Amino acid sequence: MEESLVFLKPDAVLRKSIGAAILQEFLNKKEFSILAFKEIVVSEDLAKKHYKEHEKKHFFPWLVKAVRAAPVLAMIVQGEIKKIRDFLGATFVQKAEPQSIRGKYGIWGGVNSVHASDSVETGLRELELWKKIANLEKDPDAVKKIKEYIEKWGSSKENNTLKLRNLCKKLTENPELKNQVYQDLIPLLKEDCPEANLNAIQNFAAIIIENVLL
Ligand code: CDP
Ligand code: MG
Repeated sequence: MEESLVFLKPDAVLRKSIGAAILQEFLNKKEFSILAFKEIVVSEDLAKKHYKEHEKKHFFPWLVKAVRAAPVLAMIVQGEIKKIRDFLGATFVQKAEPQSIRGKYGIWGGVNSVHASDSVETGLRELELWKKIANLEKDPDAVKKIKEYIEKWGSSKENNTLKLRNLCKKLTENPELKNQVYQDLIPLLKEDCPEANLNAIQNFAAIIIENVLL
């Protein structure tokens, strides 16, 4: 059975109800078993090593910053990697199938809520790395911990994903409106991120804007 790394990225950890909804979708998938669940603050060293394959790309500095905007929720998932990747959907939110995880919950572009290893080899490399640097280990209580997280943060309340996307779309069409879009993102993110302080919200808004304009 294949095992690989999946983590909820900061945009799905800051937006608590989004993270809870994604975790529920993983639990609902009977083809996948979750063998670990751990909140991890990603160090710069881990971020750079994890995304090493992208180090020469223009979006690399953004990627290292974005993955460190808040803790991530890391999981070891047992299941066919191709199925996990299909479940997440395409890398860019606008290109992801509307019923996929990124299509439903991602914000825009590369602000796409979840990471998953892309092959068996990558899975082995990433699990080794995250074990070594962040002590990610199998945990018999993983599913119980996920259920507790969902219990705490799951909500049937509306979230602002569609409004956030509309602002991102407006920004792609009118990059000169950057400051206004930034100001408009803040109250929406405040509503969706119940535990984040203003500093974290402002940083999150700046990260979304930077990705849209990459
Ligand atoms: O995450 P995935 O394996 O689908 O995509 P990747 O090509 O390995 O890229 C890693 C991450 O970089 C993506 O998930 C996006 O968050 C980000 N990215 C981006 O923002 N802009 C790009 N042109 C490519 C990737
Ligand atoms: Mg990848």
